[in-house]
Amino acid sequence: MPSSPSKFDDLATTSAFKPWTPPGPDDSRGPCPGLNTLANHGYLPHDGKNISFSQLYKALREVYNISIPWAFILASGTVLQMGEFFLSSPHLPLPNLHKLALHNKIEHDSSLVHANAPSKDAKWAPAHIDDELLKRLLDQAEAAAVDHGGLTPEDFGEIRALRDRAALSNGPLTTVQARLAWSESTFLMMVLGGVDEKIKPEYLKAFIGEERLPIEEGWVRPAKKIGLRIFNDVVVRIKKAQISWEKANPSEKA
Ligand code: HEM
Repeated sequence: MPSSPSKFDDLATTSAFKPWTPPGPDDSRGPCPGLNTLANHGYLPHDGKNISFSQLYKALREVYNISIPWAFILASGTVLQMGEFFLSSPHLPLPNLHKLALHNKIEHDSSLVHANAPSKDAKWAPAHIDDELLKRLLDQAEAAAVDHGGLTPEDFGEIRALRDRAALSNGPLTTVQARLAWSESTFLMMVLGGVDEKIKPEYLKAFIGEERLPIEEGWVRPAKKIGLRIFNDVVVRIKKAQISWEKANPSEKA
């Protein structure tokens, strides 16, 4: 397995991050704020192209403190599913971040801050943030901050339920896609939520709105390793919260 664990464990307590540089016109970015942010800070190639397994693995560990097994699964899953073989570089790199916008591969409808693909059969989904969806999410975060200090996994249950209700005219998410959607909210919770498990609106605004680590806003790298078990616990909490919200608020269409 690449790199020794101790190097990354030491980094868990430091906040010395590489500077943020927004993408230029020839840089590739995709629908994932987590990976775009890594490229904007130079933990992945800043042009967002030819990303190797080991670059992805290291960046996930170093910046987000994702555990060895979970980072290994994420990075190997990505290059196996999306990587391309070139004779000049036979290590199956992800050719560019934009490739992640291939519709219904990893990408799916009913995203938090991205509009749906134009049709069920569209090849590509939008990779750019939808300003209206972003504003809605930030408003939800502001309201949660006033009410109880920030967005919690339970809030994400309601947010996902509302988003599904508004966005699923192309048909329901598959079981795998629903799990991906909960996982994306879980990544936000675990990376931005801190020990209190509450995401401050200003962190969300920097991370999703600018694809920047919210260091100036006071964010620190998650001190606790993001492992598979703890990650799955949060996925289940969001899922359960979504189901109970839907039960308590039956759709008028049903
Ligand atoms: C190798 C690891 C990863 C891959 C391949 C990946 C890929 C993707 C893709 C394809 C999407 C689009 C899904 C959609 O249609 O909404 C997405 C969304 C998202 N990703 Fe990642 N991601 C990874 C890791 C991360 C990490 C570590 C974070 C957070 C730190 C993150 C945060 C998010 C969020 C919040 C969304 C939802 C965006 C939205 O709903 O509009 N991802 N990711």
